[in-house]
Amino acid sequence: MFRLLRKSRPEKQAWERDKLPRHIAIIMDGNGRWAKQRALPRKAGHAAGAETFRRIATYCKDIGIEYLTVYAFSTENWKRPAEEVGTIMALLEKYLHEAIEKMERDKVKMKFFGDVSVLSPKLRKLIEETEVLSQKFEGVQVNICVNYGGRDEILRAVERYTKDLSDSALPKPKRLTEEVFSEYMYSAHVPDPDLIIRPSGEMRISNFLLWQSAYSELYFTDVLWPDFDEAELNRAIMSFQARDRRYGGVGK
Ligand code: FPP
Repeated sequence: MFRLLRKSRPEKQAWERDKLPRHIAIIMDGNGRWAKQRALPRKAGHAAGAETFRRIATYCKDIGIEYLTVYAFSTENWKRPAEEVGTIMALLEKYLHEAIEKMERDKVKMKFFGDVSVLSPKLRKLIEETEVLSQKFEGVQVNICVNYGGRDEILRAVERYTKDLSDSALPKPKRLTEEVFSEYMYSAHVPDPDLIIRPSGEMRISNFLLWQSAYSELYFTDVLWPDFDEAELNRAIMSFQARDRRYGGVGK
């Protein structure tokens, strides 16, 4: 319904293939402002944002990114008007239907981070089906954060760890190390994001991947999410490749 006029080709890429980030995470921000600039309803911004997500996920797969994590709905987004929440959930449903239909063609492994137990039974079923059907695929893994909050994730991990500790039937978890704790997060077995991108000019992390972002490189751009494209991602990757990642050490 709300078609986008887009450049069809990415700007010539200038990044180095052997230094690509393994894991890119994106805060898909700016949908509302994009719609406002065009005197459209906010739902048009979210619909355009969902298109951008499809486009960027495909590009990540094509260039060989191993993991893409996107923030689709936070634990705080329930504060939005019910109509807007409904729009985002409906877009997710639509996307999952399509993803299931095109799964054998696209071969994208999909996971969901967040407490999905409170979502509608229909959406929960689609999420489960998508995760199960796509688990055999290797190549790119797309993690969609729904009803996700970084603090909430940490609290849940603590709860699950202490429950395992007190469960006499279970072998005792090993001493609590960062590696052991990471296995209690939604992101268990997923490497930390190398690059976190936030479009729309906002420069904050907004409760996204708080534990996992300890050493992520951050990239901010004024472009609104629905206008984000392959050329923008190329720019973010080039910026990433120019960084000196020292992890608290002294570097080269
Ligand atoms: C933030 O922009 C965006 C969201 C809270 C929703 C993101 C959802 C989608 C892109 C659609 C569904 C997702 C998938 C994976 C199919 P905002 O509304 O806060 O923008 P604003 O700050 O300009 O108002």
